Amino acid sequence: MSIEETDSQVVITHPSNSNTSVTILKYGATVTSWKLNGEEQLWLSTAAKLDGSKPVRGGIPLVFPVFGKNQNDELLSKLPQHGFARNSTWEFLGQVKSNPPTVQFGLNPKIANQELVKLWPLDFNLILTIELGEDFLKTAIEVENASEENMKFNWLFHTYLHIEDIEDTMVSNLVGMKVYDQLLKESFIDKHPVVTFHQETDSIYQNVDSDRLIQVVGKGKPLHTVKRENLPDAVVWNPWVDKSAGMGDFEPKDGFKNMVCVEPGHVSDFVVLPPGQKWSAAQILSKQELNYQAIEP
Ligand code: BG6
Repeated sequence: MSIEETDSQVVITHPSNSNTSVTILKYGATVTSWKLNGEEQLWLSTAAKLDGSKPVRGGIPLVFPVFGKNQNDELLSKLPQHGFARNSTWEFLGQVKSNPPTVQFGLNPKIANQELVKLWPLDFNLILTIELGEDFLKTAIEVENASEENMKFNWLFHTYLHIEDIEDTMVSNLVGMKVYDQLLKESFIDKHPVVTFHQETDSIYQNVDSDRLIQVVGKGKPLHTVKRENLPDAVVWNPWVDKSAGMGDFEPKDGFKNMVCVEPGHVSDFVVLPPGQKWSAAQILSKQELNYQAIEP
């Protein structure tokens, strides 16, 4: 069987390669592991809470309906950092395709974290579709506004990629992009041909064309390629020494050397979705450039 469901998670194994698999925790519909031919592609803290007591530190947490801690919006400012999708247990909707194996998870206000969702009284249906290819992982989101008024939200896939050595890692294809540095609280055009890491980094690259693949290269080898569909922004984050030390669920403490977050999102402004409308977006992760053609289901 290529799909195994337990009370807490769903594991998909690729039918033509038993060493390629993805594990999705129902809490947060968080991908906690993606193995490609036996090799783990994502970083997961050894102290990550997988029991629903807090969002997972690592893997692919889902950020909705707000990115970061909002200070200005009347409704969104009431929510905790990164919203409530990552703190809610999603419903497993089952398998929708056998090859590549594809599953769906759903979230709506009835099943979302009640304490948090009551702070944002809008009606919505979220459907997350996870497709495990032989050489890629696609996570796609559809947001439906089921309320009577416009829905204003951010979306982001908070993807923690596994790398061998942060000081010998570069993130490419962001040159010339406008970036907002969340630490300096300044915007500028990034003129560096590649992003390299020597300290804490927390940058929002804005309006990056979707045909610009973001590539992570480690010790000269292409490690990850991140393709975005309808997600104009990309956050690049590494907490480095002090920030990692301050996060109780970040272990080992030098784990920042083995991770970099490249987070496709719609975060520098809000999606404004009229009543009854749907919005969708996706990220496709692979090791090298993929000639991935989105196929309508
Ligand atoms: C990133 C933000 O997306 O998430 C950072 O840009 C933040 O500012 C990081 O520190 C982790 O957030 P959290 O809530 O999971 O600790």
